[in-house]
Amino acid sequence: MREVTIGLLGCGTVGQGFVNLLKQDRFRPLSIGRILVRDLCKERPGIDRALLTTNAIEVIDNCDLVVELIGGVHSAGAYLRRALRSGRDVVTANKALLADSGRELFAIARTSGARVGFEASVCGGIPVIRAIEHGLAGDSIESIIGIVNGTCNYILTRMEENGADFDAALRLAQERGFAEADATLDVSGADALQKMRILAELAFGAAHARVRVHGIDDIDREEIEQARSRRCVIRHVASARRLPGGVELRVERRELPESHPFAAVRDENNAVIIRGRAVGELTFVGKGAGSLPTAAAVLSDVIELAGRRRAAVLRANLT
Ligand SMILES: NC(=O)c1ccc[n+]([C@@H]2O[C@H](COP(=O)([O-])OP(=O)(O)OC[C@H]3O[C@@H](n4cnc5c(N)ncnc54)[C@H](OP(=O)(O)O)[C@@H]3O)[C@@H](O)[C@H]2O)c1
Repeated sequence: MREVTIGLLGCGTVGQGFVNLLKQDRFRPLSIGRILVRDLCKERPGIDRALLTTNAIEVIDNCDLVVELIGGVHSAGAYLRRALRSGRDVVTANKALLADSGRELFAIARTSGARVGFEASVCGGIPVIRAIEHGLAGDSIESIIGIVNGTCNYILTRMEENGADFDAALRLAQERGFAEADATLDVSGADALQKMRILAELAFGAAHARVRVHGIDDIDREEIEQARSRRCVIRHVASARRLPGGVELRVERRELPESHPFAAVRDENNAVIIRGRAVGELTFVGKGAGSLPTAAAVLSDVIELAGRRRAAVLRANLT
């Protein structure tokens, strides 16, 4: 792999994990050019201050590939549009941006010949996007179901195991760093819908979707206890399946028997079951968020895109 200079946008939870992973010797051909942040004075252990800047253009225009880890829709979208229009490949973990402007960004990429890596945008460290795009490319996917929001799963398992009510379990999730101060996107089901929409578009194409979303914000202890009395658990499950003329997306609480694979998925973990017509059910379980698991997924995209660049350069030199 030839030297590839990365322009890193953001150096927070995932960005710092990404910089730390890149320090391993085996990734020496990948180097970071500049790093965009908002606050140059913030403490960032292990980060070379000389790389930090608040000038996004300087980062984007002086690299081979852009990694976007700032989150949000407006600035992140503007930066990725600029990078893609200039033909630079981009990697992002930003599901909100993909839900808002994914089609536009992919259209720009098609025009300029750039590529977009987004493995980390759904289920953090679980390589579910690669499984759908590559591993199952020869199969026909019939359905996807998953626990794709770690905050909701943490709250539900704490209610189940600690006897906590919803508010106490949410506070615990916030104290442990598994939920934002404003957890509305998570507990309303909107975050899980964004993630399942990304998986559904990959698996089924851009078919019209019928959508039903119900969060966990109105759950009470009685629902948990009633499920327990039937030897069941409550899980917040997102699903997508192909229907005649479209796709159905659902996010809802489900009562599942204790023997169901999702019943053993606890706390902030995620799980996805993909059913292929030929292969049957494939189950993925693991860390759906966190600094290093998410950064590892970002890095796997960078490695793949850098390898493709190298192949393209070799091809160009041969012709
Ligand atoms: N955290 C996870 O476990 C996880 C899992 C999967 C996906 N993701 C996604 O990964 C992305 C990053 O998440 P994170 O948890 O790492 O976020 P974070 O900890 O809040 O870090 C965001 C970083 O971006 C910088 N930043 C934000 N807005 C900026 C702007 N307008 N201009 C310049 N710099 C800006 C911040 O700078 P300062 O440091 O100076 O404030 C910070 O360094 C998000 O899209 C998130 O949805 C996160």
